[in-house]
Amino acid sequence: MDSIMLRTSVRDFTDEAVSEGDLEKVLTAAMQAPSARNQQPWEFIVVDDPETIQSLSRTSPYGGPVSKAPMAVVFLGDESRMTVPMMWEQDMGACVENFMVAATSIGLGTVWIGIAPLQDRMDAISDLLSVPEGFKPFCIVAIGHPKEPLAPKPVRYDPARIHRNSF
Ligand SMILES: Cc1cc2nc3c(=O)[nH]c(=O)nc-3n(C[C@H](O)[C@H](O)[C@H](O)COP(=O)(O)O)c2cc1C
Repeated sequence: MDSIMLRTSVRDFTDEAVSEGDLEKVLTAAMQAPSARNQQPWEFIVVDDPETIQSLSRTSPYGGPVSKAPMAVVFLGDESRMTVPMMWEQDMGACVENFMVAATSIGLGTVWIGIAPLQDRMDAISDLLSVPEGFKPFCIVAIGHPKEPLAPKPVRYDPARIHRNSF
């Protein structure tokens, strides 16, 4: 609960690299996500080459924060694993959220950059990172050590949005 409440989008990072140990932790959390019929459609490209990071930041008009991060992870869906194809984006959303909350729990910052279902952004990533046919770019998450400490944000809990037994 503490990490969920503390997580916030981080768009500026220090130069410190993300350690291989921390990367493994957050990817472990990502792959622990629920998915439809346990199809686990996810695949990941870890980008830490500075030039590729800069190019990746330009695959979306809102990808600027990627250019300030030491690392970015591209989340992909593998069509060959999609036994329930229409659920793939929900699976990926759960996977991304696990990743981001786990990152918060170990002092890292993240921001989600939306890619799917916008075909131009998906194509730009596929071209840049030589993604083979059958793998669909879903989003980018920039990850690193936050430049500023994470500040708790207003609690969004709103009892007026909760209905019981009927709407
Ligand atoms: C599907 C999705 C797409 C997003 N795309 C972007 C993006 O392209 N660039 C960006 O800076 N933030 C992006 N965000 C982050 C949101 O702007 C952010 O989560 C929202 O403003 C709430 O703030 P918080 O994450 O600090 O709670 C995206 C978030 C989601 C869930």
